Amino acid sequence: MPTNSPPASATSEPAPRDPYLEGCYAPVQTESPAGGVVLRAAVGAVPRDLTGVFVRNGSNPRFAPRGRYHWFDGDGMLHAVSLAGGVARYRNRYVRTRGFLAEEEAGEALWTGLLVRPDLTRPGGPYKNSGNTDLVWHAGQLLALWWMSGEAYEIELPSLATRGVAEFGAPLPRGLAAHAKVDPRTGELLFIDYGPRAPYLRVGAISRERALLGHAPVELPGPRLQHDIAFTENFALVFDLSMMADPVELRRGRERIKMFRDVPTRIGLVPRTALRDGPRAAPAPVQWFEAAPFYMYHAINAYEDGDAVVLVGCRITDPLVGDPENPARSFTVPAIANLRLEPYLHRWRLDRASGRVTEERLDDVMGEFPRMNDRRLGRPARYCYTPRVAPRETLLFDGFTKHDLARGEHRRYAYPPGWFGGELTFAPRDGAGDRPEDEDDGYLITIASSRASEAAEVFILDARALELVARLPVPARVPVGYHAEWVPGAGRAELAG
Ligand SMILES: [Fe+2]
Repeated sequence: MPTNSPPASATSEPAPRDPYLEGCYAPVQTESPAGGVVLRAAVGAVPRDLTGVFVRNGSNPRFAPRGRYHWFDGDGMLHAVSLAGGVARYRNRYVRTRGFLAEEEAGEALWTGLLVRPDLTRPGGPYKNSGNTDLVWHAGQLLALWWMSGEAYEIELPSLATRGVAEFGAPLPRGLAAHAKVDPRTGELLFIDYGPRAPYLRVGAISRERALLGHAPVELPGPRLQHDIAFTENFALVFDLSMMADPVELRRGRERIKMFRDVPTRIGLVPRTALRDGPRAAPAPVQWFEAAPFYMYHAINAYEDGDAVVLVGCRITDPLVGDPENPARSFTVPAIANLRLEPYLHRWRLDRASGRVTEERLDDVMGEFPRMNDRRLGRPARYCYTPRVAPRETLLFDGFTKHDLARGEHRRYAYPPGWFGGELTFAPRDGAGDRPEDEDDGYLITIASSRASEAAEVFILDARALELVARLPVPARVPVGYHAEWVPGAGRAELAG
């Protein structure tokens, strides 16, 4: 159902202006017609050997915020392009979570956000599960997930209608956190949940039949802020990162996030066999490795190499604005409220026999929201596609890098001046194989925005040649958002008729 009314004000006092509510981040209040809108290529043409749906999630507040806004607070809105037979069709829809529906009924925001002292008595939790963070295609089901952990919402394709809360045959204590990942070999969905009360972190697995296989708590000294996971054939990777709530402040009833530069980051290997025994109360067995302190939002991949486990991700050394220990920089580093985003591609090697970690920075250009050919997740992968962080006050990507992790080489791609892209999904060409040499046989898809005109276009690139294949103007603004997913083949039925 289209929503055309402007956002209502929830408070008499206007909230302070926030850069993530303005310009190319400003929310849109209109949803596309039920049948979507056919996109015409302004440059190039929609490839005929690309069949599926690209879906991107992001923050899009339906109502004016109650008090200060944080970019992570907004309601989830999905933007999708279905592709088949050389035809592209655009749609957008809110993720209609329980919280979204309650606020729709009230006609105003009911929940406050991250920058307001939470109401711990509010039914449904102090924070609204907005389903705004990412998407995962698992066992024929598209799930919208929320970064703080919560119920996963099932999304219908190609309509983008919210079917409801996803069921896995057994209740999940805290639901799923964003960045649950599918092992393409077994079809299992590996997930974490985390929260302020023990067990602070849980790791689990759901089968290719969408049945909970099991989950287990991970023993930790206090609440932690793990955002992403990684896995190999035999292990799930968990993280005890050096940025966390200060335990001294927690004992005083206050939550203050701090980077502890004298506390090593620990990377844990959990045997995946421990995640297939049903729900466990006993802590998971974990082999911990100590690395130099860091914070990380996104891992790309992990794999086993003999007796070692290799992890690739985007490492941040100085993750907080205003930390007196942050070194001065000659360039602008983007921020989201107090979060400072200066990430660099990094590789860790965990030697299981010695317990030692070796690590190396792989690029000196800031990069985040990395993706790869997900058919190779958990195995050695040669390529990843890492959006390049522009030296701006807010998070924008002015290009991306195709990293060749095997050869230690890279190629850069710059968007036209004034244009900023999002996360790039890798979409295998129809019929692409699974041999190592097929890894980059496909396309990269993203939604880009013009900072000046606020226009949006879908960019499709050839992943191997790194050449533009098509630019598809979208007849609506698409706010800059978060994570995207490629759902292969799902557009075919729509366009056959
Ligand atoms: Fe994320």
